[in-house]
Amino acid sequence: MKIVSADFVQSAVSPRRFPPPLLPEVAFAGKSNVGKSSLINSLLNRKGLAKTSSVPGKTQMVNFFRLNEAFQFVDLPGYGFAQAPRTVRDTWERLVTSYLLDRAVLRGVVMIVDVRHDPGPLDRQMKAWLDGAGLSTLVVANKVDKIGKARLNAHLDRLASALSLSEPALAYSSRTGAGRVQLWQRLDRWVSAPPGQCSAS
Ligand code: GTP
Ligand code: MG
Repeated sequence: MKIVSADFVQSAVSPRRFPPPLLPEVAFAGKSNVGKSSLINSLLNRKGLAKTSSVPGKTQMVNFFRLNEAFQFVDLPGYGFAQAPRTVRDTWERLVTSYLLDRAVLRGVVMIVDVRHDPGPLDRQMKAWLDGAGLSTLVVANKVDKIGKARLNAHLDRLASALSLSEPALAYSSRTGAGRVQLWQRLDRWVSAPPGQCSAS
């Protein structure tokens, strides 16, 4: 997809601050530091649109980006950021679950994991929760530039079995752009389908 405009819309610390649900949305979820914000930037070819950091816990609000005046990407705070105080983690969790459960324009969720690491209990919980909520979910294995090609398939197999995936995770690298075309194919379908036709992945 050709991105002709990419604009930051708003950061929301509470559901009351979510912008009006007028355009189809795709949300990016995953553990802290797996590269959600970097992946958004790489998809859009816009360095620095979504703020990134090598320190986990960078994204703490729900951030909305409007693309081509036609749909929105939503960068979610990461889960599993152990250093954050319990109260802060609870607030993020409420914010994220409220977004995912109540957002009528949400077409699908890209759940991102780091290809190098076996999914932990929080990843398994998240995937099961997304499935239980009836949300279309695509699992993306980011940072494939960090492992050799020879090991990629073994990692993807481990991921598929740990998360009980019905289709393999999509291999991606925000750094090299590997997997970008394949991911856009899926996202295109999500954002251009008429409302109500995206419940199955
Ligand atoms: P939170 O906002 O804290 O939840 O993190 P995040 O998931 O948004 O991660 P972010 O995009 O801030 O990236 C975290 C770190 O991973 C940064 O140092 C990025 O440069 C790095 N990173 C992201 N994607 C890739 C990738 O595909 N390959 C490599 N090698 N590094 C990556
Ligand atoms: Mg982030």
